[in-house]
Amino acid sequence: MNILFAASEIFPYAKTGGLADVAHALPESLRDEGQKVYTVMPLYNQVDREKYEIIYNGLTFDYWLFGVRHQFDIFENKNNRDELFIYNPVLCDRWGLYNDDFGDFGDNALRFGLFSYAVLEVMIRLKLKIDVVHVNDWQTSLIPLLMKTRYKLKQKTVLTIHNLAYQGIFPKKVMDELEIDWKSCFKFDGLEYFDNVNFLKAGISFSDSITTVSKTYAQEIQTPAFGETLDETLRVNSYKLKGIVNGISTEVFSPSKDKFIDKNFSIDEYGGKLENKINLCKELGLKDDKRALFIFVGRFTSQKGVDLILDAISLFKTYEANFVILGSGEDIYNHSFGSLVGVYDNIHIKIGYDEAFSRKLYASADFLLMPSLFEPCGLNQMIAMEYGVLPLVSKTGGLKDTVTDFTDIKDIENSSLGLGITFDEYNLFWFNHALAKAFSLYGNKDKFERISKHNMGVDNSWIHSAKEYLNLYKS
Ligand code: ADP
Ligand code: GLC
Repeated sequence: MNILFAASEIFPYAKTGGLADVAHALPESLRDEGQKVYTVMPLYNQVDREKYEIIYNGLTFDYWLFGVRHQFDIFENKNNRDELFIYNPVLCDRWGLYNDDFGDFGDNALRFGLFSYAVLEVMIRLKLKIDVVHVNDWQTSLIPLLMKTRYKLKQKTVLTIHNLAYQGIFPKKVMDELEIDWKSCFKFDGLEYFDNVNFLKAGISFSDSITTVSKTYAQEIQTPAFGETLDETLRVNSYKLKGIVNGISTEVFSPSKDKFIDKNFSIDEYGGKLENKINLCKELGLKDDKRALFIFVGRFTSQKGVDLILDAISLFKTYEANFVILGSGEDIYNHSFGSLVGVYDNIHIKIGYDEAFSRKLYASADFLLMPSLFEPCGLNQMIAMEYGVLPLVSKTGGLKDTVTDFTDIKDIENSSLGLGITFDEYNLFWFNHALAKAFSLYGNKDKFERISKHNMGVDNSWIHSAKEYLNLYKS
């Protein structure tokens, strides 16, 4: 099978969240299964061309849209020529992928419209033999539409929805700017959306198959509560919608190999984990490293349950436990968390995106806080388990599918499920109740350590899900 995999971010080149991790690990896993996979992403300014040996591959072309000439230069990774990068000044010459401090870029429709055209032009001009075009989220959702309408291409198309909360909604004038055919596209079963255009809806309507990143989320998004106004569209298209849970790269997220952490460790050499915790507590000035260490790593947006975390700070400060919060995102949350930096001696807060620090946290922590309001899949909880951490999660989306409450399992060692603490209702009472369960478990050192080691052995790799994708491509 030959697959073209297009995404707006791919680890390690550019990453704002889990999409980048998936767009790296799924293609790798498919390659391990013997498939030919080309990946394509924008060559943003921030991508380190030298470090990753990204070189010009000799292809430059112009594309005219709405009377304007756009130039594209194509690059590839010197060490894996199937990793392709598209450079165009409008798309790439700015700081930030989708937004800056003032909000979303005003020309995102044009930027990702151009990217979508360029992906197809690259496929055609480089004469890539492709069976399946796999696109991800709204940024690449015009590709199936363009393939079916303007280009009349026959390859199978698969859209993966990583997060329905982001749809790419723009005024309808972009139809002309991007030369999208009004008649075949501007309709309910196309990209029309309350008299605007909705890129994600284009992908939903025009792709042959749709996946989303967990089985539970695939059901949830067909309901008004989680459907983000597209639930009806998704119900209409449910015949081609499937939930396939994400995995994580066990090469990248490996406690025994991770270069970012002080002490590597494994189930058999578990002592390293405790040393990491002692070092981290010392480094951050947290008192008493024997206490339970809770961490939060993630984007500051309501999706991640940061409202609950902020409400719970007044509880955290009274608990005999340490808390480390790493994240950044919406202004209001950056300010709220920012105002708490250095205020309590058992709560360390770092505002920002820091891959190395996040690994140190996973390597040191006892519990990961992930009280999401909704969660398509979530990778943090799987990464955490790989590092022996117990996730404390709300029972929603992929969290429900990947974390089981330890009290529901009798025989820890013989279970194949990832274990942690789960709570049903998104409110402070049940969140606090879950914290209380965590404390009581932590008090039973033997049981806690057995679960921690058990989690390190749980299979969260891509192996099974990559096979599911392969079956979908073939069907
Ligand atoms: P989402 O894609 O919704 O942000 P996921 O759980 O799927 O959430 O993936 C988040 C990824 O981004 C994980 O690899 C996580 O470790 C990483 N991450 C999130 N916020 C930060 C941060 N502030 N610093 C470092 N890594 C982060
Ligand atoms: C999105 C979701 C997250 C998911 C990730 C990768 O950003 O918010 O739950 O894990 O995509 O699919």
